Amino acid sequence: MTPERHSLTGTGDPLLEPPPGCPAHGLGPGGLHRLHEADDLEELYEQLREQHGPVAPALLHDDVPMWVVLGHAENLHMVSTPAQFCRDSRIWTPLNEGVVKPDHPLMPHIAWQPICSHAEGEEHKRLRGAVTSAMSGIDYRELRRHIKRYTQRHVNRFCEEGRADLVGQFAEHLPMGVMCHLLGMPDEYNDRMVEAARDTLKGTETAIASHAYVMDALDRLTTARRAKPEDDIAGRLVTHAAGLTDDEVREHLRVVLLAAYEATVNLISNVLRVVLTDPGFRAQLSGGQMTVPEAVEQSLWDEPPFSTVFAYFAKQETELGGQRIRAGDGLLLGIAPGNVDPRIRPDLAASMQGNRAHLAFGGGPHECPGQDIGRAIADAGIDALLMRLPDVQLACDEDELRWRSSIASRHLVELPVRFEPKAQQDIRQQPSHAPASAQRTAWHVGIPRPESRPAPQVPPYPPEPVSVSAAQPQPVPEQPRPRGAWQRFLLWWRGY
Ligand code: HEM
Repeated sequence: MTPERHSLTGTGDPLLEPPPGCPAHGLGPGGLHRLHEADDLEELYEQLREQHGPVAPALLHDDVPMWVVLGHAENLHMVSTPAQFCRDSRIWTPLNEGVVKPDHPLMPHIAWQPICSHAEGEEHKRLRGAVTSAMSGIDYRELRRHIKRYTQRHVNRFCEEGRADLVGQFAEHLPMGVMCHLLGMPDEYNDRMVEAARDTLKGTETAIASHAYVMDALDRLTTARRAKPEDDIAGRLVTHAAGLTDDEVREHLRVVLLAAYEATVNLISNVLRVVLTDPGFRAQLSGGQMTVPEAVEQSLWDEPPFSTVFAYFAKQETELGGQRIRAGDGLLLGIAPGNVDPRIRPDLAASMQGNRAHLAFGGGPHECPGQDIGRAIADAGIDALLMRLPDVQLACDEDELRWRSSIASRHLVELPVRFEPKAQQDIRQQPSHAPASAQRTAWHVGIPRPESRPAPQVPPYPPEPVSVSAAQPQPVPEQPRPRGAWQRFLLWWRGY
């Protein structure tokens, strides 16, 4: 079944519209569901799966018809079959027939741009080849070191307070610091840059000015690297054999910066929320049954940073999930619903450890080329944060947490936490939960804690390395303790 093309705004008569609470609320012409009016998109996707199977018709803003791909196999088939589906919105029938107006709220995603995300065939290879080659020069051990340093810097800003908002003061800062460093503009990274990226993505009234601020910084970077290339992503883009123009370089720097920022902020926030609200999850992390990278992977299954990607378009008439798709139809890449497809996950509570077949990074020719960078920022950043704040706890009831949701993503607004106030640490030092002091000369065992402070109610992170009581002051050896092979391996693995 092809979604029928309807008039723009339903009946247009408020008296004929169903009131909120009525079962028909959220339905548009033809009885199709309006995705943007759903109170709970996850619930709606399950309802659509029940009614229509793995590919369901639905409506976007202005009652623009769109298929939602709900099945895991169907999503994979779509992204991996460029002969049938592409990301070029210029073939989308509702756009060409004028059903999608220039002021459509999804226009920033819809409008075709000369960037790798929208390109196909040889042009896609040319642009994406330059991006992946620019990323391939990254030294991951060095990157992890930077991530730890940025984490130290951010934790230093609030560690003495004993409370913080881990979304606004940590998750929203870390990826921007790391990405500015990788792109080649560490000096541009500051609170204004974070605010500008936030604003640009939220689409607030200052979004245009904020976007201009980001683009101006990227313009200056492109000009500087054209004049004098350096060994960073911008430098490698301008010198790549694909011969990118200045506009192409700047646009790809923008894609990389903003895509990486939004997705990684969501990933870090989601993992931290689960660590703070699910005692079983935290116990596994603290007890060593689960590593931080495994926790990140589980989150990519359960709460992918992008719930859907707008959009793929059918190049020819075809069939998908039992539905007849016409040439020019639009299809949402359903990452969140595909990840919970009952055909691959009959038991959602079962651990997905060791299984990376989720759809969080898409797939096929457009599969996210930055996934290892996103994973590294989340893994190393969360590990370092928990090393500094092993007793961190949620400072509100779980049901007080709020999200900002759209069809594309679900973003935790804030994550208030409390912990015993901690001393600042030198940002060049490896993160640890021992108070850093200028006099410290030796290796500390366990968590030195003044006796007046109560023991934390949560399992410490990471697990205590030896069985001495953490509540007792520990004798400090004269010489640094020789580290065992396992400890040395762990430190190497964590990028120290
Ligand atoms: C947790 C972090 C991230 C997630 C969940 C994520 C997810 C995605 C998804 C779903 C796509 C679209 C795939 C498709 O159309 O089939 C994508 C594309 C892309 N991502 Fe990521 N991403 C992340 C981090 C990053 C980072 C760190 C970078 C850059 C350093 C990056 C750069 C890109 C680029 C350039 C594309 C377009 C690729 C193309 O069209 O050929 N992403 N990403």
